Amino acid sequence: MIIAIDGPAASGKGTLARRLAAHYGLPHLDTGLLYRAVAARCLGRLDDEAASEDAARTLDVATLDPEALRTAELGEAASVVAARPSVRAALLALQHRFAAQPGGAVLDGRDIGTVICPKAEAKLFVTATPEVRAARRFRELEGRGEPATFEAVLADIRKRDARDSARSSAPLVKADDAVLLDTSTLDIPSAFAAALSIVEARR
Ligand code: C5P
Repeated sequence: MIIAIDGPAASGKGTLARRLAAHYGLPHLDTGLLYRAVAARCLGRLDDEAASEDAARTLDVATLDPEALRTAELGEAASVVAARPSVRAALLALQHRFAAQPGGAVLDGRDIGTVICPKAEAKLFVTATPEVRAARRFRELEGRGEPATFEAVLADIRKRDARDSARSSAPLVKADDAVLLDTSTLDIPSAFAAALSIVEARR
């Protein structure tokens, strides 16, 4: 079974993907980390498309360090390199290999249900209002001791939403057959229960 989970930043898709993967005993790939890792290798020369394509082509999933990659700066830089078709194409095979594991997999990102795994058995499009998502991300950054203000985080989220939705290559969009899950008013256990019943109905 392949579970495809898409949605904007801080919608709760990562948490739901991790929990669903644990529940079904499936491997999980946070595809945002791939774009973050490419960006990390191109910081200071983000305009250099050839460098970002090369970083994507030679990316080694085994060396990804989620802790180091989940910063606000790399989220922003990731959405710049992620708009390039050459970077997306270079990361395609790796994601297809991950999804083809026997037994299945859980992948989360922006284009899993539309581009990477269009035939996934279960597709979720997880969302929440920009204010709720900014509040979550702000608390997360605070918890890690990263300096931030709510307003700056909200502005960053709006900018990233706009860039991810407006790009021509694999934009952030709900697949026709994905089920919409709005987590704005849900705590984690309720969101997980809702996600689980969506997946159960599809298998
Ligand atoms: O999900 P996360 O915030 O880690 O993603 C960082 C950026 O990577 C996103 O804003 C988006 O531009 C890009 N991304 C993407 N396609 C994916 C996953 C992430 O374009 N499947």
